[in-house]
Amino acid sequence: MRIAFFCPHSDPLASPGEPDSGGQCVYEARVAEQLARLGHEVRVYTRLWGGKSEHQAICDGATVCRYPMGPEGFLRKEDMGPYLAEFAERVLSDQSAWLQHADVIHGHYWDGGASALIASLAVGKPLLFTSHSLGLLKRDRISDPTPDGSKFRYELRIRAEKKILDAADAVIALSRTEREALTGRYGTNAEKIRIVPGGVDTEAFHLRLDKTDLQRQLGFTSDYLLFTVGRLDPRKGFLELLEAIPPVVKALREAGKTVTFLIPLGPEQPSPDEKAYRDALLQRASELQVTDAIRWFHRLTDQELLDYYAAADLFLCPSPYEPFGLVLVEAFASGTPVVATPHGGPIDIVTPGVNGYLADPMDPPAFAARILDALLAPENDRHRMRAAAAERARTRYAWSSVASAIAEVYHSIQGDAFALR
Ligand code: F6P
Repeated sequence: MRIAFFCPHSDPLASPGEPDSGGQCVYEARVAEQLARLGHEVRVYTRLWGGKSEHQAICDGATVCRYPMGPEGFLRKEDMGPYLAEFAERVLSDQSAWLQHADVIHGHYWDGGASALIASLAVGKPLLFTSHSLGLLKRDRISDPTPDGSKFRYELRIRAEKKILDAADAVIALSRTEREALTGRYGTNAEKIRIVPGGVDTEAFHLRLDKTDLQRQLGFTSDYLLFTVGRLDPRKGFLELLEAIPPVVKALREAGKTVTFLIPLGPEQPSPDEKAYRDALLQRASELQVTDAIRWFHRLTDQELLDYYAAADLFLCPSPYEPFGLVLVEAFASGTPVVATPHGGPIDIVTPGVNGYLADPMDPPAFAARILDALLAPENDRHRMRAAAAERARTRYAWSSVASAIAEVYHSIQGDAFALR
């Protein structure tokens, strides 16, 4: 099959730490790569900016094609609305010969969905939509702090999502929570929805036998190492996490143990928003007198990321809301149980007491209690949890299985353009 991905804001080959890049980029790159391995041809259409090249191969059979859109330089994903038709137009005029023979047009996130919808109408090909995150669910947990709603532009986003969902021939939901929101709140026909989760590279992220050894090699000397990672964005919940640290430190001190929390501080050259969030983190940590228990880090190399995941006794996901939770399956593949938000995708990933715990990060005592449950469990139980986490990643979340499931959805709508419209 010939498959076209539309994802203006999310370049699959974005460098780590680039603004508005994250799990969606990893998802697009790995899915495109696996589809190419299955013999399909994939073109990924994204925005050209920041001096990147117009064409770049992900691997044989999967290529990123970049087109300019709107003003020069970085453009926030929330501000892309006015330029999406122009983006679709540029892709269509340059790629029309290839798109005329495409089998499916796959839009990612609402900006990708909107431009993919325009393209699918222009070339008469089936449209598949993966939201990666839904405006209505995000708005429930994170309100727009600006009086005119210009930070998140929820109204425009939700309206666009509704139109894309109505038009799509099939919709991939990353979790049960998303499927419920799609049917219950967006009115999407349940028959067009398939749940296909995100995945993890189970060769790169893997269990190492002795965590304590690895911790010492990495220079960590405390009894427990706790890790969290993500871009510096209030939506990742790092400020909330700080509130859970004092009770954890206190309880462990009483048990004669020490702990280190590894927490990100964002890029060394932060954007104004990142800088504001970083300052808030540093100030709150100092007010709570927990700086001794924290090791802050800036950008991690790929190897450091793999090592930290594997060395950690526990991975923490304190987001107020997480659409899927790619970081959780990366932790699992590294043999690391988690304590994660119950809002969003993590409820499908975490089986409480088996491979981690769910706790509301907005309730720091509850979040701290689950951390302590995991750390202070008998060694046999902790060992069992690590093995269960790794096993779940291997059996449920390999990218090859994710891509095969997506390819089945493509097959189910192939030649189906306009069938459900
Ligand atoms: O843009 C970065 C990113 O993490 C994407 O990978 C993801 O799809 C999106 O943000 C989630 O966005 P939202 O903040 O709307 O939930």
